[in-house]
Amino acid sequence: MNNLKPGPTAYENLRARLIKETHTWLVTGVAGFIGSNLLENLLKLNQRVVGLDNFATGHRRNLAEVQTLVAPEQWRNFHFIEGDIRNLDDCQRAMIFPCHNAPSGTGNSEHCPVEYVLHEAALGSVPRSLADPIATNGVNIGGFLNMLVASRNAGVKSFTYAASSSTYGDHPDLPKVEDVIGKPLSPYAVTKYVNEVYAEVFALSYGFESIGLRYFNVFGRRQDPMGAYAAVIPKWVYAIIKDEPISVNGDGSTSRDFCYIENVVQANILAALSDEKRAKNKIYNVAVGKQTTLLDLFSMISEVLVTHKVNYKKSPLMKEFRGGDVRHSLADISKAATLLNYWPTHELQVGLKDMMGWYVSAAKSLEGEKP
Ligand SMILES: NC(=O)c1ccc[n+]([C@@H]2O[C@H](COP(=O)([O-])OP(=O)(O)OC[C@H]3O[C@@H](n4cnc5c(N)ncnc54)[C@H](O)[C@@H]3O)[C@@H](O)[C@H]2O)c1
Repeated sequence: MNNLKPGPTAYENLRARLIKETHTWLVTGVAGFIGSNLLENLLKLNQRVVGLDNFATGHRRNLAEVQTLVAPEQWRNFHFIEGDIRNLDDCQRAMIFPCHNAPSGTGNSEHCPVEYVLHEAALGSVPRSLADPIATNGVNIGGFLNMLVASRNAGVKSFTYAASSSTYGDHPDLPKVEDVIGKPLSPYAVTKYVNEVYAEVFALSYGFESIGLRYFNVFGRRQDPMGAYAAVIPKWVYAIIKDEPISVNGDGSTSRDFCYIENVVQANILAALSDEKRAKNKIYNVAVGKQTTLLDLFSMISEVLVTHKVNYKKSPLMKEFRGGDVRHSLADISKAATLLNYWPTHELQVGLKDMMGWYVSAAKSLEGEKP
């Protein structure tokens, strides 16, 4: 894999190879937004997947939707464990794909140990962590440590985990380069930074290798639009479809490097399967490398929704800047490009167009659910 050229072909070649070789993966947080997209992609590539989730913020409907998107024989390659990463036993149970679910030809007496771990389970959201730092700490640090220990004990081939751009904290430099971070601005940011520190210590102490992916504002299908802690894109899209008012935290000049889910799936698969020694035990920005202000985002979403016959006439309401929020964000993605062959295929507008049909249909089916 390391001799492939950077760019989309490296990933395409890897997918073509993967589809012919079935491996066993563990996706934690599998009922969530990113986890369920990883699951969908892996099953479509004929991979075996153990999924672990406690439905703290994820949904059974996400798993049910993935079932409708894959072939029945691919769905049989999925084994779900309802469990909590704060419980070491649950993490250890998730390290084996049970044979009775294995596809025919793998033998009845043989279990398939997990080879590749994609650790996504966490309590996301800066405001949630400000409201309940103890809960965020327990899941994001205690749970992370359990996953490291369980993965090390199981001898997995690779451990790839969701880090976060919030780790850049108060450092003003743009674009963000992996080695230059500031002080954390929220309890959530602390937990994500501690993950990186723990991963490094596990490499030093036990020779346990990992790769951390610092995601920048991910968006796409199945990202939850409901509730107080919804991310800006699903929240606005959902409100605009329902013709409800939307508000901007600050004056609208806050900027983000919005990253479509397809790019995140790509980064995870490249990282997990990398056989490049110098790519291991490192942190990578996963983004597009383009900056968009909230006001521009609002215009782009509104324009794409016009093509779905949604004509929003309201102007966004400006509110105070939100505590704990980083004002500007833009990633330098050259490290991931060089060492992982990461090459984002979807810019913001492409991603918005790709996902919008899903939100238009989801708005109808989510109507009855509590916010
Ligand atoms: N979405 C983003 O923009 C973004 C940005 C940076 C980092 N991340 C990180 O990516 C990961 C996935 O985020 P997401 O956007 O898919 O969020 P999500 O809330 O949709 O998914 C998280 C999943 O983890 C599960 N979970 C939470 N606590 C758990 C526990 N104790 N045990 C087992 N499962 C548990 C939830 O039920 C949920 O299904 C998280 O680690 C998050 O911090 C996300």
